[in-house]
Amino acid sequence: MGSDIMLESSISPSLMCADIFSLNEIIEDFELNNIEYLHIDVMDGSFVPNFCLGTDYCRRLKKRTAIPLDIHLMVTEPLKKLECFPFGNGDIVSVHHESDSFQNTVDTLKLIKSKGAKPFIAVNPDTPADILSAYLDCIDGVLLMTVYPGFAGQQMVPGSLEKIERVRAFLDSAGKENISIEVDGNVNYEKAPLMRQHGADIFVVGTSSVLGPGNTGDNIRKMRNLLDGAIK
Ligand code: DX5
Ligand code: ZN
Repeated sequence: MGSDIMLESSISPSLMCADIFSLNEIIEDFELNNIEYLHIDVMDGSFVPNFCLGTDYCRRLKKRTAIPLDIHLMVTEPLKKLECFPFGNGDIVSVHHESDSFQNTVDTLKLIKSKGAKPFIAVNPDTPADILSAYLDCIDGVLLMTVYPGFAGQQMVPGSLEKIERVRAFLDSAGKENISIEVDGNVNYEKAPLMRQHGADIFVVGTSSVLGPGNTGDNIRKMRNLLDGAIK
């Protein structure tokens, strides 16, 4: 189960789940606990039936903290909207396979790379993993949706753990052990270690764990211990 060469685990809190009235303190907790990314859910009300965080939010975050952004574009035709967002070295930008033509998606991934960021292909729960083979040469990671995109507080889609394992096995067999698997949706304290064991290495944490009840710093340390303990 999972790959022999395990990529280090990273935590990427979903800021749509953060209390906006305590955001400054929450970011301080993230910095004190060496959080690796800030997950920014961008929604256009068309690709998903919801609206969420936007370009000014990203710009203000960039001014506030050095923590890299992990921008999740849940928008149609992302190629036309990419220029609106501030991103560069060290950031992740994910675009959905389902949001544009294949060629436009490849062009978008290449444009993200050309700006120094890490291009990730995002895949919805119902999209078969074998679509990934066409993207292998233009991605640094796969964002595997473990819920249907658009809303926090959902339950993991059944079969998600097996899908993580299939994708990890496929990437490793293709010699792409360095391509990350990021999981997004219902990453709670019970499922996160299982997701890790099945091959995930970047964890989007929201209302189900780190940005749920309790002290943020304590929640982060609890999640880190669970992830570190998952692989022996
Ligand atoms: C779903 C969102 C995620 C996540 C939120 O579209 O992209 O950020 O579900 O975290 P949970 O699932 O824990 O509320
Ligand atoms: Zn997301």
